[in-house]
Amino acid sequence: MDRRAVYICLAAVTTMLVTAMLSRRDCFCESLQWQEKKKKLRLSRCKFPLVVHVGPHKTGTTSFQKFLCDHAQWLQKEHGIFVAANKTRKEAAYIASTISKQYGRPYNPKYANSTRMAELFQVIDSMPKNSPVILSSEEFSRWKTAEWNYFKSQPAIQKRCLSMVVTHRQVWSFQASVWNQHNKLNKQAMPQPFLITVLKDKNHFTDFQLKLLDVLDSASDSVDVVSYEYLHERNYSLASFVVCNATRRLEGTEWESCKMGVDLHVPLVINPSEPPTAFDVVRLAYGLYTKQKALNSTCRLSQFTLATYHNSAVSRVAEQMPTQCENLPDEYVDELYYNRTGVLRPSGNASTICFVDEGSLKLKHWKLLSTLLPQGCQITTG
Ligand SMILES: *[C@@H]1O[C@H](CO)[C@@H](O)[C@H](O)[C@H]1NC(C)=O
Ligand SMILES: *[C@@H]1O[C@H](CO)[C@@H](O)[C@H](O)[C@H]1NC(C)=O
Ligand SMILES: *[C@@H]1O[C@H](CO)[C@@H](O)[C@H](O)[C@H]1NC(C)=O
Ligand SMILES: *[C@@H]1O[C@H](CO)[C@@H](O)[C@H](O)[C@H]1NC(C)=O
Ligand SMILES: *[C@@H]1O[C@H](CO)[C@@H](O)[C@H](O)[C@H]1NC(C)=O
Ligand SMILES: *[C@@H]1O[C@H](CO)[C@@H](O)[C@H](O)[C@H]1NC(C)=O
Ligand SMILES: *[C@@H]1O[C@H](CO)[C@@H](O)[C@H](O)[C@H]1NC(C)=O
Repeated sequence: MDRRAVYICLAAVTTMLVTAMLSRRDCFCESLQWQEKKKKLRLSRCKFPLVVHVGPHKTGTTSFQKFLCDHAQWLQKEHGIFVAANKTRKEAAYIASTISKQYGRPYNPKYANSTRMAELFQVIDSMPKNSPVILSSEEFSRWKTAEWNYFKSQPAIQKRCLSMVVTHRQVWSFQASVWNQHNKLNKQAMPQPFLITVLKDKNHFTDFQLKLLDVLDSASDSVDVVSYEYLHERNYSLASFVVCNATRRLEGTEWESCKMGVDLHVPLVINPSEPPTAFDVVRLAYGLYTKQKALNSTCRLSQFTLATYHNSAVSRVAEQMPTQCENLPDEYVDELYYNRTGVLRPSGNASTICFVDEGSLKLKHWKLLSTLLPQGCQITTG
């Protein structure tokens, strides 16, 4: 073989190497790093992870936790999975809130109890090391790195490899749901129009989920992200994702049958949202009340308390109001999140929200609204 051939060969190898390196560098976009991490975990020692589901709030946590509690035995028999904190739905909050309190973070006082926390660590420790364990509390989403480090330093946790599951919810739909919850709980106060609430809270919510991801990312090599809207659109349950994807990491027909089995045990939605129009109806009825009160002295209430929550009269009126629906826009932060994680995303039309179209209210609608008020406030003309 002559020298020239050797040089050509060397040059070719060098080109291949450089190309490979360059394309490798190309691959270092963030979502691929995520996929790599997941793969590493799947292939590594972590066959039996401690899966911590961190919520956050308003992402279907309550019904998922009900599933875990009600079917702990079934999960163990059918899937070899143990449910730590299976006495009550919110039991895992004893760990989350106690540690939050320790570090001076916001916490739920009802669940800050170090005795209960120690008991739960013992339960986790007593569970077989060759079985996956699931622990779920939305209160974990309040943790920063210090809390995770403390948690990981516990002997019961040190013996296991930690894997996290977090649900992403689009900013607008997250806000709509917070607005809903706020109005539902706040029975005495007037519901505020959606947009006012959103504008007030926007900064608070927009980057919360990205920051949460940063915290989880630094606390564990393995973070599984799932999109709330994607699950909805596909009619997938969070339970089947946590059990079949994030814990057992099944694929193909094994995944199919796992999913079908889990879905047979998933409860119906137990924390239903009021339609936004119900809040609009209460707000409009209040406006009407203040006007009618000025017109007729018999239109009087000691206090205006028209509850929206499970109020069938309000719902009936709401159903007959003209509505206007908005497609909630794609938000830059959601896009950032999808790009960073490479998570399966919804097709784009998942979030619409309908309000009462106040501009096209006719006399009959106002009359209908007045039926929610006392006798003296009724609209009798026309
Ligand atoms: C439920 O929790 C108890 C401790 O409270 C634990 O001993 C038991 O193994 C758990 N059951 C399942 C099926 O995970
Ligand atoms: C904490 O939990 C223990 C064990 O259940 C209970 O005996 C104790 O009263 C609780 N402490 C507080 C402050 O609630
Ligand atoms: C979603 O699943 C439920 C329960 O399995 C079923 O009743 C419903 O028709 C499904 N909806 C869609 C859109 O597939
Ligand atoms: C769960 O795993 C199955 C099988 O690998 C896959 O087809 C599906 O897209 C996964 N679900 C999500 C939400 O990632
Ligand atoms: C997300 O990724 C797409 C495709 O790479 C890119 O066009 C878009 O600008 C990215 N969006 C953000 C917010 O980073
Ligand atoms: C989204 O919904 C609008 C109105 O309902 C429709 O016109 C549009 O084609 C939909 N887009 C997608 C991507 O499905
Ligand atoms: C005020 O309301 C009462 C009770 O509905 C009604 O009888 C009365 O005519 C009303 N008065 C006026 C001025 O509309």
